[in-house]
Amino acid sequence: MQFSPGTAEMLETLMRWRRDVRHFRTDPVPAPVLARLQQAMELAPSVGNSRPWRVLLVESPALRAAVRAEFVRCNAQAAGIYEGEQAAAYARLKLAGLDNAPVQLAVFTDLTPQAGHGLGRQTMPETLEQSTAMAIHTLWLTARAENLGMGMVSILEPAAMEALFAAAPCWRFSAYLCLGWPEFTDDTPLLHRADWQKNTAMPWQIR
Ligand SMILES: Cc1cc2nc3c(=O)[nH]c(=O)nc-3n(C[C@H](O)[C@H](O)[C@H](O)COP(=O)(O)O)c2cc1C
Repeated sequence: MQFSPGTAEMLETLMRWRRDVRHFRTDPVPAPVLARLQQAMELAPSVGNSRPWRVLLVESPALRAAVRAEFVRCNAQAAGIYEGEQAAAYARLKLAGLDNAPVQLAVFTDLTPQAGHGLGRQTMPETLEQSTAMAIHTLWLTARAENLGMGMVSILEPAAMEALFAAAPCWRFSAYLCLGWPEFTDDTPLLHRADWQKNTAMPWQIR
């Protein structure tokens, strides 16, 4: 397979406009689109081809409400590390799209997957969770290519999420994902727009 010269430019545009989305319209995502997203995740790399991500499509209103409550609890706790004007700025940030996102996924990592027979992860067991992160990023870019938006929510207590979803003991909570049609698109991170921080370049260092 040889890609045409415009492909890299298109990919750069896609990545520039990916963004973490927290403002969603409530209209549903058609099943065929969701199926394509699911298939795209299968294309992600993983250590020893172990494919350790376990994805729950959360439709239950009770579970969604419990996740929202857990987010509110953890976010209030997180706010406690800031003082003064920074505390006020933190309180103004929107850090999850849990109220409106029509599609919500609870993502876990199986820490003892059969697939791959342990290949590649004996010295770095964290590569399993890294693999899940790569699958999430694959999903993120694919969603954007479908004109959807996605937002990651990590302001949650892993043990509480594992209990909430009655996860198997070998499942580690990785992230909660909100997906849907964005209310608006942007090529600049929301935290940057909100003046919380400036984007910093991370140049490669030579050794
Ligand atoms: C592992 C991970 C966890 C994140 N958790 C949250 C979160 O809990 N709430 C939130 O608003 N954004 C979360 N984000 C999104 C980041 O804030 C966002 O990626 C960052 O500000 C850069 O913005 P951009 O994604 O639009 O480039 C998370 C992103 C990653 C990669």
